[in-house]
Amino acid sequence: MILVKLGGSVITNKETIKDEKGKKIFYRARTDRLMGELKSTNEEFILVHGAGSFGHPLSKRFELREGYVSDRQIPIVAKVQEDVRTLNLDVIQTMREKNLAAVSLPPSLLVKLDGGKSKKISMEPFRHYLELGTVPVTFGDVVPDISRRFGICSGDDLMLHLAREFKPRIAIFVTKVDGIYTKDPREKTGSPAKFITEINEKTIRLIKEPRDNVPDVTGRMKRKAKMMLTIAKEGVDCIVLNGLKRNGLGRAIKGEKVKCTIARRRK
Ligand code: ADP
Ligand code: IPE
Repeated sequence: MILVKLGGSVITNKETIKDEKGKKIFYRARTDRLMGELKSTNEEFILVHGAGSFGHPLSKRFELREGYVSDRQIPIVAKVQEDVRTLNLDVIQTMREKNLAAVSLPPSLLVKLDGGKSKKISMEPFRHYLELGTVPVTFGDVVPDISRRFGICSGDDLMLHLAREFKPRIAIFVTKVDGIYTKDPREKTGSPAKFITEINEKTIRLIKEPRDNVPDVTGRMKRKAKMMLTIAKEGVDCIVLNGLKRNGLGRAIKGEKVKCTIARRRK
């Protein structure tokens, strides 16, 4: 089996957030193409997707990641859950149109945090729906936290837990850059960003955090790189590739060479 995360940066617009009608942007055509590439594999898979502009801006404004501080946050917890489910429904619909039998598994019902860290994730529904021949789909969400009342579970966190549990052949992070660089490739000042082909304990130290204003509450590329290393230590090959490039995901699934950053499995 394979494990794939479609980043919020690919399926939504993390920078602009809303279109001219004030509606949040879901990149339907692009998601549709990526589903086609996923469909071309006959292997079973679990899909994770990010929250992008449907989750980050409000979560950041009301500091949901740090848990409860005021009653003002409570309607926002409900609103962000609603918004990420709206996005999830959009994703599920594009899958159905490709004849993929997608089943939504919301982390708000399956994940429990304690102090911001995952304490318990129910894996049974994932196993059940895989055995049924459907595609389990889960996503970054606002979830219960035992000590802080609520917190954020990111799609990247879910990738680690699912990799640990299901030991997929490969874990693929689909994002909007070719892979991981020493710094944000969009940053034009200073020395140019260098592409990192393989993440290991040495190369991870080269990554600098970006200096932009993108609202993101779950950490950026450096955190993703750390997650990839941990997944590799679980014995699972892990790559990050560019979902904007036609057929990059499809080729990677087939084992063909594509430009990407890899963390090779350790066991
Ligand atoms: P996603 O939502 O797809 O999971 P992120 O938004 O967290 O991913 O990361 C993708 C963005 O990170 C890209 O827009 C890219 O420009 C930016 N970025 C910042 N630092 C780096 C880096 N060191 N290497 C690659 N991309 C980076
Ligand atoms: C974030 O999920 C969840 C919320 C903010 C509610 P992710 O961290 O997986 O989302 P992306 O991929 O960065 O958009």
